[in-house]
Amino acid sequence: RSAAALAHDLAGRHVVVSAGGTREPLDPVRFLGNRSSGRQGFALAGTARARGARVTLVAANVALEPPAGVDVVHVESTAQLREAVRTAAKDADAVVMAAAVADFRPRATAAHKLKKRDDGVVEPIVLEANPDILAELAADRLRPGQVVVGFAAETGDASGDVLAHGRAKARRKGADLLAVNAVGEGLGFGTADNAVTVLDASGAVVATSAGSKEAVADALWDAVVPLL
Ligand code: CTP
Ligand code: CA
Repeated sequence: RSAAALAHDLAGRHVVVSAGGTREPLDPVRFLGNRSSGRQGFALAGTARARGARVTLVAANVALEPPAGVDVVHVESTAQLREAVRTAAKDADAVVMAAAVADFRPRATAAHKLKKRDDGVVEPIVLEANPDILAELAADRLRPGQVVVGFAAETGDASGDVLAHGRAKARRKGADLLAVNAVGEGLGFGTADNAVTVLDASGAVVATSAGSKEAVADALWDAVVPLL
């Protein structure tokens, strides 16, 4: 671990970390969701605690034991995650949005279990956009001077490589830092190791880190501490 990490450089700070993946209900038994394991967010919470912070961990559908000494708020949907994060962020020095937030939710949630139709016709699911929690936090700064950090899992495509997408996203979101990681081919979701490039709001590279999710978490806190 870095010297800074061992020096309790988050003592006296309150940090909020969101982790996992939100689920948007279709009916009482079904949801739209994603494959986020919550491991990077849990590692961020555990390392922040080890560095002396008071930690609120907002966990969306994570099947892991939370780190000791961390306050955990369990949520399912994006609306619940938004509410829990914004409540905890009111007195937070830093907020890290490590959760994979569903971009869309079904426009309607059925009160009863949806049934197949006798005529075999399948109803389409109509979606609507969720609020962008990270962009809101960056715009609102619920506590003055609060550091706001996002994560972006990217694959390259025809319009640009991983870093090009990350840079555009960093500028769009307005967060102080955006940790960009390449996903696919055994990297990212559900795996032990991670590799991230940390960008500032202008898209400039401020740090890179590869290794365990704990090592990546410590490297991200190393980048956050000077901004506090
Ligand atoms: N995020 C958020 N609220 C959303 C969507 C994303 O707070 N509705 C946050 C995530 O927690 C993450 C960051 O924004 O910290 C980037 O998420 P990502 O899905 O990569 O970005 P999007 O803006 O949703 O863009 P894309 O079209 O690539 O999914
Ligand atoms: Ca998204």
